[in-house]
Amino acid sequence: MGLRFLKISVVYFTIAVLIGLVMGIIHNFTLTSVHAHFNLLGWVSMALFGIIYCIFPSAAQTRLAKAHFWLHNIGLPLMQGALFIVLVTGNPGLTIVTIIGSLLIVLGVILFAINILNLKSNQNRISN
Ligand code: HEM
Repeated sequence: MGLRFLKISVVYFTIAVLIGLVMGIIHNFTLTSVHAHFNLLGWVSMALFGIIYCIFPSAAQTRLAKAHFWLHNIGLPLMQGALFIVLVTGNPGLTIVTIIGSLLIVLGVILFAINILNLKSNQNRISN
């Protein structure tokens, strides 16, 4: 689970910086929100989830972690894919998909928080 999150996070990081680079080159900042969310929910958050699940393997093995993984990884492409289309076409028709995607992410974050709050202070932490 930890490694899966880490691998997906570097894919988002690569796409996010490429979008940033292209925006800078062509001086068109329409996709700033997609760039920022790919960086922060795709790269930063997922890399943190991955590191935390690697440090606390017992948290990674729960049903909460599995649900969190899928909610985040379905929610983010839905939310940002729909936002991308809305921003590029100027047609707000897919805004509802952006809202549904963000709700999935928020639900996943709540499950992640419950999972981490359930950890005991020295529970199955990896040792060096
Ligand atoms: C090579 C890497 C990067 C490039 C070329 C890049 C480029 C850009 C550009 C061109 C903008 C639009 C600026 C504007 O609207 O005036 C932007 C906005 C933003 N970037 Fe990046 N960026 C990079 C990396 C990152 C990283 C690593 C993060 C976060 C982890 C990040 C977070 C943001 C945020 C939050 C905004 C929105 C700022 C705002 O609207 O005030 N960027 N970036």
